[in-house]
Amino acid sequence: MIELKNVTKKYGEDTAVDGVSLKIDKGDFCVLIGPSGCGKSTTLKMINRLIEPSGGEIFTDGLDVKKQKPEILRRGIGYVIQSVGLFPHMSVSDNIAVVPRLLKWENSRIDKQVNELLSLVELGSDYADKYPHQLSGGEAQRVGVARALAADADILLMDEPFGALDPVTREALQKGLLRIQKKLKKTVVFVTHDIDEAVRLATKIAIMKDGRVVQYDTPENILNNPADKFTEEFIGIDRALKNLTRMFVKDISSKVSTVKERDKISDVIGLFCDKVYLWVTDENGRFTGWLSKSAKLDGSAEVKDFMHRASSEQYCLSTDTTLKDALSKLVMNGVVVLPVSEDDLVIGEISLQSILESGNG
Ligand SMILES: Nc1ncnc2c1ncn2[C@@H]1O[C@H](COP(=O)(O)OP(=O)(O)OP(=O)(O)O)[C@@H](O)[C@H]1O
Ligand SMILES: [Mg+2]
Repeated sequence: MIELKNVTKKYGEDTAVDGVSLKIDKGDFCVLIGPSGCGKSTTLKMINRLIEPSGGEIFTDGLDVKKQKPEILRRGIGYVIQSVGLFPHMSVSDNIAVVPRLLKWENSRIDKQVNELLSLVELGSDYADKYPHQLSGGEAQRVGVARALAADADILLMDEPFGALDPVTREALQKGLLRIQKKLKKTVVFVTHDIDEAVRLATKIAIMKDGRVVQYDTPENILNNPADKFTEEFIGIDRALKNLTRMFVKDISSKVSTVKERDKISDVIGLFCDKVYLWVTDENGRFTGWLSKSAKLDGSAEVKDFMHRASSEQYCLSTDTTLKDALSKLVMNGVVVLPVSEDDLVIGEISLQSILESGNG
């Protein structure tokens, strides 16, 4: 889908990009990452010919970009620039509609597209008539993303689209982008220098240093087998934990039998087997606490007489929680196993052991 072959960019004696080769498949989310000045933006801008390479070749859909007219090429590629770059004198909807207008779409189609994109990036339709100076940084970045998506291009180039945002807004926009990508399956080249962002979003990561790509692989392989000392230091000492941000509770949750508060203890005692805890629910299957094996249980009593009551908010893991957050919840509660719930119902459990095993995989 996008291929760079031995691409170089020189400014006089200085080499900004030095023999970069990358193959980015259709539907891939490729993240370029590396320290400031390593050539990420330059690489990105050569794909849509905002910068012309000094050497090498670049293809989109098998076509040499040199053989495509820059303005036509650019209409077929969504682009989010490093500093948002909304047109200050244009309303939000006009900013989003720039390329569709160039492509001479009908007005009704443009309006529909603008409305759909505003809701996709979770901005209400009342944002359509605002001007860039009336937006917060995070809102402006969302408009930037919407604008890049506007022409339905298959390729999306994003240069630090969430830079300079607080971690909470940033995470919300990352989640939104993942949701959009799942739906639209664009071929994305995304620049960041935040390794956590890279690990969360990428299907492939290219680690860059001094204008070169030092490793190009899946996030899992990069985290598990960093190519050299530089990559190892760049991804950080918590790389095992980072891997856990790509896995979810639903991937390793195991099914368990739960017991109800009104069950007789003699009827449920056999469920313990090698377990230390049984999860207790109300009549509707909602978590209300646990029954511990170590307690001196009286078989003729009911579960509710011996159970430990607890809130599901504190103890239950939801299926879309990352294993990193699950691990954090285990540690916070000082336990080795926690229940998993979906739509408020207990459906399984996760143990510390199972997280450790998945982290090695
Ligand atoms: N027009 C230019 N003339 C001369 N040198 C340039 C020019 N544009 C970029 N460079 C140099 O090329 C190198 C790569 O720049 P680039 O913008 O690609 O870095 P980057 O990886 O995107 O950095 P950052 O993370 O800070 O955005 C830098 O050393 C920069 O100084
Ligand atoms: Mg840059």
